[in-house]
Amino acid sequence: MRMVDVISKKRDGKELTTEEIQFVVDGYTEGKIPDYQVSALAMAIFFQDMTDRERADLTMAMVNSGETIDLSAIEGIKVDKHSTGGVGDTTTLVLAPLVAALDVPVAKMSGRGLGHTGGTIDKLEAIEGFHVEITKDQFIDLVNRDKVAVIGQSGNLTPADKKLYALRDVTGTVNSIPLIASSIMSKKIAAGADAIVLDVKTGAGAFMKTDEDAENLAHAMVRIGNNVGRQTMAVISDMSQPLGFAIGNALEVQEAIDTLKGEGPEDLTELVLILGSQMVVLAKKAKDLDEARDMLKEVMANGKALAKFKDFLNNQGGDGSIVDDPSKLPQAEFKIDVPAKESGVVSEIVADEIGIAAMLLGAGRATKEDEIDLAVGIMLRKKVGDKVEAGEPLVTIYANKEDVKAVEEKIYANIKVSDHADAPKLIHTIITK
Ligand code: URA
Ligand code: CA
Repeated sequence: MRMVDVISKKRDGKELTTEEIQFVVDGYTEGKIPDYQVSALAMAIFFQDMTDRERADLTMAMVNSGETIDLSAIEGIKVDKHSTGGVGDTTTLVLAPLVAALDVPVAKMSGRGLGHTGGTIDKLEAIEGFHVEITKDQFIDLVNRDKVAVIGQSGNLTPADKKLYALRDVTGTVNSIPLIASSIMSKKIAAGADAIVLDVKTGAGAFMKTDEDAENLAHAMVRIGNNVGRQTMAVISDMSQPLGFAIGNALEVQEAIDTLKGEGPEDLTELVLILGSQMVVLAKKAKDLDEARDMLKEVMANGKALAKFKDFLNNQGGDGSIVDDPSKLPQAEFKIDVPAKESGVVSEIVADEIGIAAMLLGAGRATKEDEIDLAVGIMLRKKVGDKVEAGEPLVTIYANKEDVKAVEEKIYANIKVSDHADAPKLIHTIITK
């Protein structure tokens, strides 16, 4: 088989065979096929697309390019939740202990944040002592005993995707539905998920800026999952404004604690109940979504969800007592209110720009090497659709430096107040097939 023939075939809009896709992925992983040929193929795929069969084959070829995690030693159906990334997205911190409190096994592999989006591991590291450097055996034992554990991303998972993603990044081929969908799904499948709940974000703070793009990506991922034998569904949720109030690591841990007690922000709580119900049903712990939702609300109300969070933190070296005394979380030196300049209704809070404002404070990384400040961030005091009086705070900045001029300017430029605005719809669509 010759790579040039595979490239030409896709360039001409024809369907590649399973063998041809395998040949490309294996050859590229082993370094036998050069970057320039794979770049040409990626560009051909960008313009000519892939059929469902090609997408499934590409996904599984990438899964098999490296190590895969065998979670079969964990009892029950392992349901993984994946978010395409947003601003102030505290859902994983809440969902993991919440569904684990209903005996749904949560064996989560997580990463760190980059740019305007935060990472679950960074947030958890706001808790003194907590770490994800545990062995695979410890990971499996913890999930079997207490139903929840988080481990850092293994370096050997889907090497083909790692190489291809880096290549796409510099060849204008990131934004291709078949390539994004297979990239994301290959990582979930390699990490051992039996079933997958996808939270596909749409809006300014999301990877997909429009509903149409988000729906196309969601459909593509759901079809790949179901075609390779992993039950998969997707929720398309709003990321035009940040989720909840807190953006920043320790602030989001506090928000997660509130939400686990049933006292969290309305949007975060609702999203957690929607995604959580799907997970509980896929794990066959409830007969339908309504029953699952009632069960989730019950463990929020009776303290079981919070107790599960505490156990989870203690199990991985963390100080679980922060659950009872959140003042033990890293605290910022300065709290600076940013007052509204006029009265009206908040009509826009541009999520990605607010995420960048939090990053400027040190809450996130501009480059992979940056150190982050776990204490700092932004607390929204208003959400889109809320009334505000001139002089009332729009946000509170949590900083470890006194001069936050640049951050304030960014906030004023990206929170708009008008005469009238409605709160955005949180759940746009649910895709199950
Ligand atoms: N995230 C991924 O993991 N892969 C892509 O291709 C795009 C976003
Ligand atoms: Ca939040």
